[in-house]
Amino acid sequence: MELTKNNLEAILKKVVHPETQKDIFSSGLINEINIDGNSIDVVLMFEKATDPFINSIKRSVKTEIEREFGDDLIINITTKIKPKEKAAPKNADGIEGIENIVAIASGKGGVGKSTVTVNLAVALAQKGYRVGVIDADIFGPSIPKMFGVQDVKPSGVKEGNKEFIIPVEKYGVKMLSVGFFVYPAEATIWRGPMATGVLKQLIDQAKWGELDYLLFDMPPGTSDIHLTLVQSVPVTGAVIVSTPQEVAIADARKGVAMFKSNGIEVPVLGLVENMAWFTPAELPENKYHIFGKGGTEKLAKEVHTEVLAQIPIVESVCENGDTGKHSALDFTSVIGKSFSDFADKFLDAVEKRNKNQAPTKQVIIK
Ligand SMILES: Nc1ncnc2c1ncn2[C@@H]1O[C@H](COP(=O)(O)OP(=O)(O)O)[C@@H](O)[C@H]1O
Ligand SMILES: [Mg+2]
Repeated sequence: MELTKNNLEAILKKVVHPETQKDIFSSGLINEINIDGNSIDVVLMFEKATDPFINSIKRSVKTEIEREFGDDLIINITTKIKPKEKAAPKNADGIEGIENIVAIASGKGGVGKSTVTVNLAVALAQKGYRVGVIDADIFGPSIPKMFGVQDVKPSGVKEGNKEFIIPVEKYGVKMLSVGFFVYPAEATIWRGPMATGVLKQLIDQAKWGELDYLLFDMPPGTSDIHLTLVQSVPVTGAVIVSTPQEVAIADARKGVAMFKSNGIEVPVLGLVENMAWFTPAELPENKYHIFGKGGTEKLAKEVHTEVLAQIPIVESVCENGDTGKHSALDFTSVIGKSFSDFADKFLDAVEKRNKNQAPTKQVIIK
C-alpha cells in the first residue's frame, strides 16, 4: 500500500481503544497526521492523562504502521491531553484539578532525587503532560538552581482576601520551592514545625491550575516532611531513587517500607537506579558498573515492584544540574533517551496503579 494520508487513516482504523471498543480514528483520538517523505508524525489526543491505555495504543499504532508500510520509517507518535472546558476551582485541600500526586523519594541523600525529579518533569512536559514540581526538600532546596531560575521571584495574586502564589514556569514545568523565598542557608536552621508549615503553604496557597502530574522532590530519609505530605494530600504513588551501593539499597528499602507501612499505604510505583554505571562521553557503548550491580533489581523483586529506569553516570547530568539545562531536553543523547524511556515507564506504572488500586486516602492522624 502506498503511504498516503488516506491509506494511513485506513490503517489507524484497525487500532481499537480497549475501553470504548471504538477505533481510534472514528472516536476522534487522532489529532493530527503528517507525512513527510518517510517520516510520519501522529498526534493522539486523549481525554484524560490517566487513560490506562495510552501507551498500549501508542504501541499498537506504531506496530500497525510498520506492518503495512515497512519498518524503515521514522514514526513519531506524540500524545496530547484534551484541554478541559473550564478550569476546575481549587478546593480547600488545594488539590482539585490535580490528577496524580507523586513523591520522588529515597533513603539516602545525594542519590539523585532532585536530578531524577527535574528530568522526569521535563520529559513528561515534552510528551504533552501538564506537570508541576514542589521542592519538598525544605532544608536543602535545589529545584530553582536545577532549573536555572534561582533569581526569579514568584508573583502573587489576590483573590478576595486570600493571597496566592503563582508557580514559576520553565520548559513547560510549573514549580515552587522555598528557595524562591529565602536563602538556602536560612532554611537549614528552621525547626520541624516551620518546615512542615512551609510545605503546606507551597501546596495550599499556590495557583497550580490543572495538572496531570504534581511531583514532590522529597528530602532524604523518612521525616516530618514525609508525614506532612501524606497528611496534606492523597499521594497517588512514590518513586524510590537509589544508587547501586549496598548502603543506598538498604536505605531505599527503608524508604519503600515507610510508604507501604500501615496507616500510610502509598503505593510504590517503582524504583529508579541512578548512577547505575559510568559511560564515558567518547565511549557511549561502554558500561562500567563502578558502584556495583544488581542490587536495585533484587530490591524490586523483594518488595514486588519494578525498576523503572537505570540512569547512567554522565558528566553532563551534573553540569546541567548546575546550569539549569536538562539532559531530558536532548532526546538524542544517551542520557536524554534514558530519561524519556523512564517517563514512558513511569506513565505505564501510574496507569497500572490507577487501574488496579483504589485512590490513596489522605492519612489522618488520630
Ligand atoms: N546520573 C548522574 N550522573 C552524574 N551526576 C549525577 C547523576 N545524578 C545526580 N548527579 C549529581 O549528583 C549530585 C546529587 O544529586 P541530587 O539530584 O542533588 O541528589 P539528591 O536530590 O538525592 O540529594 C548532584 O551534583 C547531581 O548533579
Ligand atoms: Mg535533592
